[in-house]
Amino acid sequence: MEQGDSSLDNEVKDFTSAIEAVFIQGRTPKIFSSKKVEESTLKRLYDLVKLGPTSGNSSPGRFVFLTTQDAKERIRPALSPGNVERAMAAPVLALVCHDPLFFENFSKLGGEEGLRDWFAADVGLSEETAFRNGTLQGGYFLLAARMLGMAVLPMSGFDSFMVEEALLQNVGWRVNFLVALGYPDASEEKTQVARAPRLNFEEACFSL
Ligand SMILES: Cc1cc2nc3c(=O)[nH]c(=O)nc-3n(C[C@H](O)[C@H](O)[C@H](O)COP(=O)(O)O)c2cc1C
Repeated sequence: MEQGDSSLDNEVKDFTSAIEAVFIQGRTPKIFSSKKVEESTLKRLYDLVKLGPTSGNSSPGRFVFLTTQDAKERIRPALSPGNVERAMAAPVLALVCHDPLFFENFSKLGGEEGLRDWFAADVGLSEETAFRNGTLQGGYFLLAARMLGMAVLPMSGFDSFMVEEALLQNVGWRVNFLVALGYPDASEEKTQVARAPRLNFEEACFSL
């Protein structure tokens, strides 16, 4: 990271601000400001995301950043109509993916002896592990992006086969969801509707 990098100005600096930014004030945006998301910020984002826990340190999450209009255009036909305008207008459109062959990296990830062969022999187990942990890493991505001062609009309204055919054939990754990524726009506050209610503790949890 370069000294004096202004892309870091928006980062959350203390614990109370983090809770506010990530959960209490953090909302899903419809629009973004025109502020560019620097490549250095995307690297910083991934360098945080990769530290979140995954089972056996399997680290199956993969991320593709569409940073140009041309790149975003390649998946326009795959987007649900309601998502097209928002996705196209976002400074970055990220694909949250996972690698079904994640176990081939175990030697780099300190995997236990025999773990690679165990996953390689069981497609059901490896697919479940890739999806579970890739989804978790997608969640870390959303929270880390908010910590870095960004606004995130996750989207599952798209055709995953079309996206994979357009962009992921060479790498063989599966796409899970998309994230429109940028900085908050000040005008959004005025137009934002109240946050939809959530289930309370008694409805969503129990303790034994
Ligand atoms: C996995 C996922 C998929 C979503 N898909 C879409 C989508 O396709 N289009 C959309 O406009 N919003 C989508 N959303 C946004 C949610 O509707 C929004 O984050 C949620 O209602 C919470 O809103 P709030 O942050 O304002 O409280 C998605 C969110 C998640 C986490």
